[in-house]
Amino acid sequence: MNKSYFLPLLFAGLVLLISGCSKEEESRGQDQAAGSTSAEPLAVTNIDPVLSSKGKALYEQNCVFCHQADAIGKPGFAPSLTNEEFLQVSSDKFLMGTIRDGRQGTGMPPFAHLGRKDVEAIVAYLRSHATLPNMSAQVDAQPRSQGDERLGRFWFESICATCHGPNGDGYVAGSTGTAIGKAGFLDKVSDGFIRETIKQGRSNTRMIGYSGPEAMAALSDADIDDVIAYLRTVPSKTN
Ligand code: HEC
Ligand code: HEC
Repeated sequence: MNKSYFLPLLFAGLVLLISGCSKEEESRGQDQAAGSTSAEPLAVTNIDPVLSSKGKALYEQNCVFCHQADAIGKPGFAPSLTNEEFLQVSSDKFLMGTIRDGRQGTGMPPFAHLGRKDVEAIVAYLRSHATLPNMSAQVDAQPRSQGDERLGRFWFESICATCHGPNGDGYVAGSTGTAIGKAGFLDKVSDGFIRETIKQGRSNTRMIGYSGPEAMAALSDADIDDVIAYLRTVPSKTN
């Protein structure tokens, strides 16, 4: 799709999104539930309530300033940590590693000083918000992208850069999306995590899914793998 008619579509998409959001999200959640479980109630991760309430207190001391109450995030400042699609694809290893190491070159500081037990408690608190099953093992086991970075660059520049910045630098470049072109993100996520995030998006954020009938700009599976291949090359080019 070329850029000149992508932009109007983008705005039309946003308007639609704002007006039809809650209904759409509801049906999407149900579709996913139907696909991943049978008639049983959602197998959302078992959370130890004692651990989770310890995590809530730690969250309120260390994280709430940026990630806001209930970790809903703040556009252009800090992402949501309780978003359902985010929790669905995030492994404990990814969450704990990101909290421990932070993301260099972004507003996300490292919290290694809290120690493993406290970080585990915070992760339990975040997971207590999950409304979808934890699919991170399956997501991380997906095959790596075999895409073409040159084709991916086109999609990145015409779609993703609008919100994530021309080098995926994120908020520090005045963008509304996170720093998906930086090593602090890329070194910790699987291609499956990136793929599912591009496909599904994150409900109630500006990250809209690019796959399926609700997508505002449909990318094929091959296009998405091209974007992933390009993203994987960005840190070495710019950092
Ligand atoms: C000073 C502000 C600030 C504080 C305090 C902070 N964060 Fe962050 N956090 C950020 C920003 C900004 C990002 C996005 C970085 C980027 O652009 O990639 C982020 C990203 C994250 C991510 C990755 C989210 C994603 O969408 O991939 C996790 C997980 C996270 N933070 C957890 C925490 C936890 C837990 C705490 C408290 C222990 C915390 N953060 C404290 C600013 C902050
Ligand atoms: C309309 C703005 C917008 C566009 C266009 C957009 N994104 Fe996003 N994206 C966001 C926002 C905002 C977030 C963080 C959501 C939050 O705040 O919780 C995000 C999050 C992400 C994440 C998760 C990053 C993390 O830190 O965990 C990935 C991966 C991502 N986007 C990839 C892409 C790709 C690839 C494209 C292009 C195909 C794209 N996005 C287009 C706004 C956008």
